[in-house]
Amino acid sequence: MKNVLVTGGAGFIGSHVVDLLLEKKAKIIVMDNLSSGSLRNLEHVASEIAFYEGDITNKEDVEAVFQQHSNIDSVVHLAAQSKVGPSIENPEEDANININGTINVLEVSRKFAVKSFVFSSTAAVYGDVGHLPILEDQSTEPLSPYGVSKLSAEEYVKAYGRLYGMEVTNLRFANVYGPRQSAATESGVITIFIEDLLSRKTPVIFGDGEQTRDFIYVLDIAGAILAILYGRSNERNKQALYNVSSCSETTILTLLDVICKDMGEAFSPSYQEERKGDIKRSCLDNGKLVNAYDWKPQTSLQEGIRETVQYYKRIAVREK
Ligand SMILES: NC(=O)c1ccc[n+]([C@@H]2O[C@H](COP(=O)([O-])OP(=O)(O)OC[C@H]3O[C@@H](n4cnc5c(N)ncnc54)[C@H](O)[C@@H]3O)[C@@H](O)[C@H]2O)c1
Repeated sequence: MKNVLVTGGAGFIGSHVVDLLLEKKAKIIVMDNLSSGSLRNLEHVASEIAFYEGDITNKEDVEAVFQQHSNIDSVVHLAAQSKVGPSIENPEEDANININGTINVLEVSRKFAVKSFVFSSTAAVYGDVGHLPILEDQSTEPLSPYGVSKLSAEEYVKAYGRLYGMEVTNLRFANVYGPRQSAATESGVITIFIEDLLSRKTPVIFGDGEQTRDFIYVLDIAGAILAILYGRSNERNKQALYNVSSCSETTILTLLDVICKDMGEAFSPSYQEERKGDIKRSCLDNGKLVNAYDWKPQTSLQEGIRETVQYYKRIAVREK
């Protein structure tokens, strides 16, 4: 049985990772400061996990968790400042959480002889790349402090792998969506559109809507993390790096159309000026991960949207 620490486990992706780990009968420890996550995301599993409210920027908080659970063998490090906008407004705080916080988690993991460390990085490390789909060996030119802090954290993760023989994996996620995602996140465009339509607001498209993103359903992301933790890689690599994506481009116009069709709503967005710093096209090649592990994305955009719409309809009823 694995003993897994999930930092950021009360968040959107983290809570789905917890759900899949429970199916594997893992012992799960969650550490989260609840800054953007919520205990609501874990209420259905509250009696089956150990939860610690703590901040990764405070090394004592991280140590306290390991002191209670000295047999943690795997760490899934998801806790982060994960928005582009705030990273531009406050790059020091972004760096403190994403770089120093990651160093704290790595240091304590080393001290307690963690075997496997999985880090959640992002497509934002690539910047605006000319040719798609983007392969892992593409040069990295992040456009925001968020991309820089995640890239920097990746390097620390790799260095710990080299220095201490820890099995480390950096995963670069595309645009993740699904139930429990907060509309407050940049990549929460799907949640934003659904919430707008449910509350009879007109969805806003920035620019002409022809910009593309690579949307991947959250359970496919969680499945990739589980594949790393439990699977056998065909690739012998102690400091691995993989894109995790659907490897398909969807325009924002198509996305809204799929959502409107699912909800039986008319397609009538309003348009606003393109946002500064938004990249035009995005698509990550996922072939390396598909070939290395028994993993591939299972959920079509239509299916993922259906699940996500159902979830937000249930929430809307609950909150009435
Ligand atoms: N959602 C996406 O599309 C996407 C894409 C690429 C990468 N990622 C990465 O995946 C990870 C999870 O993202 P998410 O979408 O679930 O976001 P999220 O905000 O829902 O989850 C992050 C969790 O970390 C917690 N947290 C934040 N700062 C903390 C701190 N200092 N100490 C302890 N806990 C802290 C939050 O409370 C939250 O529960 C992040 O590292 C993010 O950068 C997400």
